[in-house]
Amino acid sequence: MQADPRLIIALDLPDTDLAWSLVDRLGDAVSFYKIGLQLIPVGGMQLAERLKAAGKQVFLDYKLHDIPATVEKATRNLAGIGADMLTVHAEPPVMKAAVEGKDGSGMNILGVTVLTSNDDAMLEQIGYRHGVRDLVMRRVDQAVSAGVDGVVASALEAEAIRERVDKDFLIVTPGIRPAGADAGDQKRVATPASALASGSTHLVVGRPVNAAADPRGAAQSILTEISPV
Ligand code: C5P
Repeated sequence: MQADPRLIIALDLPDTDLAWSLVDRLGDAVSFYKIGLQLIPVGGMQLAERLKAAGKQVFLDYKLHDIPATVEKATRNLAGIGADMLTVHAEPPVMKAAVEGKDGSGMNILGVTVLTSNDDAMLEQIGYRHGVRDLVMRRVDQAVSAGVDGVVASALEAEAIRERVDKDFLIVTPGIRPAGADAGDQKRVATPASALASGSTHLVVGRPVNAAADPRGAAQSILTEISPV
């Protein structure tokens, strides 16, 4: 079965050799990969360039959060390697700076609204006036105003977000678990097909594929599940 660009596999592995051997095993079944913070210090950028040279799409999940001038310059450099997606925290000055920095490149900027590790009690402790749900929706509206290309959101939020944004706005959804799979530490999970039906445009899948005994088989069964959606 052909790769589907809506399926993004998270390369959450200890080093780039293990990451590349997963890419090798997945072969033409997967065309889009996510690189997170854990790989940056051990060659993550070189891995991104190698993936691009192999014709793959690359999502840099770096969650930038800094003063606007720094975010703009970092975004410019990351766009320069041909990355296809980049996450930044969904605060208006940060998102606007990233939009400036991407400067006509094809890289999509995604706002991270509220980290899934935060709940209402944690937001209150940090000093926010809003609970998770309200803050997510407020930041979605701010993401649209800032001109970013989309947000990262759970499938449970995707439906309400889709109602507020136009159809081109990207909703990239982690916490995907094929029916019967172990949820692990993810709280707000959905199956691949139900996430797409809720309005997600892309699925981020980690352990159900990267920790599977047969990663290619696991990816292919997700592709089969989403092909009619
Ligand atoms: O292994 P699993 O499928 O849970 O991996 C999900 C991936 O998506 C991980 O790389 C995780 O860091 C990322 N992610 C997430 N929740 C967010 C943002 C990113 O799980 N809100």
